Amino acid sequence: MKMILDERGKKYVLKPGQEFQSDLGIIKADVLDSAEVGDEVKSHLDHTFKIMKPNINDFIDIMDRRCSILLQKDIGQVLAHTGLGAGSRVVDAGTGAGAIALNFGNVVGPEGQVFTYEIREDFAEVARKNIDNFGITNIEVKNKNIKEGIDEDKIDLIFLDLPKPFGIFEDVLESLNVGGWLCVYAPYIDQAEISYRIAKKLGFYDIEIIELLERGLEVRQQGVRPKHVWLAIADTWYLQENYSYYLVDFSYNYFTIFLKKFNYFSYNLHLICKSR
Ligand SMILES: C[S@@+](CC[C@H](N)C(=O)[O-])C[C@H]1O[C@@H](n2cnc3c(N)ncnc32)[C@H](O)[C@@H]1O
Repeated sequence: MKMILDERGKKYVLKPGQEFQSDLGIIKADVLDSAEVGDEVKSHLDHTFKIMKPNINDFIDIMDRRCSILLQKDIGQVLAHTGLGAGSRVVDAGTGAGAIALNFGNVVGPEGQVFTYEIREDFAEVARKNIDNFGITNIEVKNKNIKEGIDEDKIDLIFLDLPKPFGIFEDVLESLNVGGWLCVYAPYIDQAEISYRIAKKLGFYDIEIIELLERGLEVRQQGVRPKHVWLAIADTWYLQENYSYYLVDFSYNYFTIFLKKFNYFSYNLHLICKSR
């Protein structure tokens, strides 16, 4: 894979033998194939493109996705909290398009192994293709309902991103090494709470529920300010919205908030704990 960066800072990831076309012009496949990282190539419209080495996030940005994928902040939390490293064995479910599975595969390296379960055949196929295109061989995609049983044992981390994950915590415990990690990614507080109670009852320790809020800042000519505002509704920080899309009416003795259009709705929790 090669990545090219145009004059506007827009990136494109290309496969070997692929011709490039955009509004800034065409670059022939043989020109791209023979260029080295760091070289600059010209399109037929004389625009300059720099050859870059793509990393896993560049690849995930352009890969085929059929469902929502885990965000970098959430993937980072799992990797950093569990200290996952070379040679680790990981079970992941559901795979979706394979975003976190790819990160696991990338981190555990050739001596490690990732087994990722996906109930839907079409998603499993997409994930297999994505993993194949990324070019690593330590991830096995299983088109299987993980609730029917976990085939592997001596696992260092089991990561669950699916409804009612707590239904399989007993199986999880059987498959984990002593000191292995269970991580649950939950979009609802009650799912995290039930997971907490069941994990505790089963003897997991170091149990934590973590809410991660990430807010970027944008640099404008007038100054620097947050990209999004967090809106508190009923004491719970549930909605993130771009400034431009809502209007707060202060003319009443309470705030009336008119939400014109949602362009971002994201709420997720991590439950992370360790087996004995
Ligand atoms: C939100 S997506 C997963 C995103 C993915 N973890 C990532 O890294 O981007 C949830 C996936 O879980 C799958 N799924 C739901 N229940 C499942 C089960 N019991 N066993 C395996 N996969 C399941 C769904 O088909 C869906 O593809």
